Amino acid sequence: MANVVILGSTGSIGTQTLDVIRRMPDRFRVVGLAANRSVEALEGQAREWGVAHVAVADEPAAAELRRRMSGTAVEVAGGVPGLCELASMAEADVVVVAVAGAIGIAPTHAAIRSGKTIALASKEVLVAAGEETMRLAGEAGVAVLPIDSEHSALFQCLNGRAPETVEKLIITASGGPFRTLPAERFASITPEQALKHPTWTMGGLVTINSATLMNKGLELIEARWLFDVPASRIDLLVHPQSIIHSLVQFADGSVLAQLGLPDMRLPIQVALTHPERVETHLPRLDLAQTADLTFEPVDYARFPAPRVALAALGAGGTMPAVMNAANEEAVALFLERRIQYTGIMDTVQAVMNLHSPCAATLEAVLESDGWARRAARSAGGA
Ligand SMILES: NC(=O)c1ccc[n+]([C@@H]2O[C@H](COP(=O)([O-])OP(=O)(O)OC[C@H]3O[C@@H](n4cnc5c(N)ncnc54)[C@H](OP(=O)(O)O)[C@@H]3O)[C@@H](O)[C@H]2O)c1
Repeated sequence: MANVVILGSTGSIGTQTLDVIRRMPDRFRVVGLAANRSVEALEGQAREWGVAHVAVADEPAAAELRRRMSGTAVEVAGGVPGLCELASMAEADVVVVAVAGAIGIAPTHAAIRSGKTIALASKEVLVAAGEETMRLAGEAGVAVLPIDSEHSALFQCLNGRAPETVEKLIITASGGPFRTLPAERFASITPEQALKHPTWTMGGLVTINSATLMNKGLELIEARWLFDVPASRIDLLVHPQSIIHSLVQFADGSVLAQLGLPDMRLPIQVALTHPERVETHLPRLDLAQTADLTFEPVDYARFPAPRVALAALGAGGTMPAVMNAANEEAVALFLERRIQYTGIMDTVQAVMNLHSPCAATLEAVLESDGWARRAARSAGGA
């Protein structure tokens, strides 16, 4: 029986994690839940799961939840310190990090320092602070298990093999809704068109990142730190059917791939039950009924984002945090119709050009994140 804390329990990954755990009551006990402002949802979850420890990042929302839960045994901690406290609570064995944003870094580090196993969904933790996070995990002897489907696939193919055995990590990309759109039509792409993802249903930012392929840029950075493989040995491959979630080419030329229907509950379960394989009710992949599996290279002229991400990784220090924050703001500006679709990457580049990276301490990362958001807003004319 493992005791689990879920940071971001009210979100898409958080609720799917609870779905997975609901089917394995003999294996997992939920001991802590955290969110930002979704007080009602968090109250419902705390009551359903009989959880005594809850954290709410937004202080007024924390006060509201305390009021609602008064007279119960539930303790409500507030702010980032509250999230860190929850992530390091003595009872917890595993901390699922599924909060959106760089806010997840401090609680993840707190959990690592307390020796908790980390099941990591939040991209920002590795994008903005990957080197430091993996250094801390190495020192503490703590496992960082990926939840993101591509990294889960790589993790499963690697199966504990050393980085030296890897010739290439190959991350697959659906290619998004504009895979076949001619370059001259990119400037006139509307938010409505960009929000239609061919395979996954996700929030606005993630869906736009899938369209620009910035999500692949972020995944390259995450893979670099998670698996300790240099960026020069990480490739992208467009695979529109999203059945192969990623591949590893080993030093002997052999290639292993992980396949499955697109459903985040599978990688969540893989992380939670690692190293075991446990039966699921999830629909099975039937290859005989699957149409062709096709592959093509990424067209970096139309999709420059992964190369921009590699440049940020190469510049090092706070640059990936700046790139990520500038991208989030630029996507918001696009969704607000203040900039064109092609303006997203122009804005990110403009902000990166203004930044001189420094060492990615937690403080510097958060400061750079804030600066990049303001710079992106002014570069984007807001
Ligand atoms: N969804 C996917 O399929 C998927 C796949 C791979 C990786 N990821 C990554 O996983 C992370 C979560 O994604 P998601 O799709 O689950 O996001 P989401 O649906 O937007 O949920 C985000 C969760 O984080 C909480 N949160 C937001 N800001 C916070 C803050 N300042 N402090 C504390 N908690 C905060 C939210 O609480 P409230 O409800 O109170 O706002 C919510 O519980 C992201 O980094 C994403 O890139 C997602």
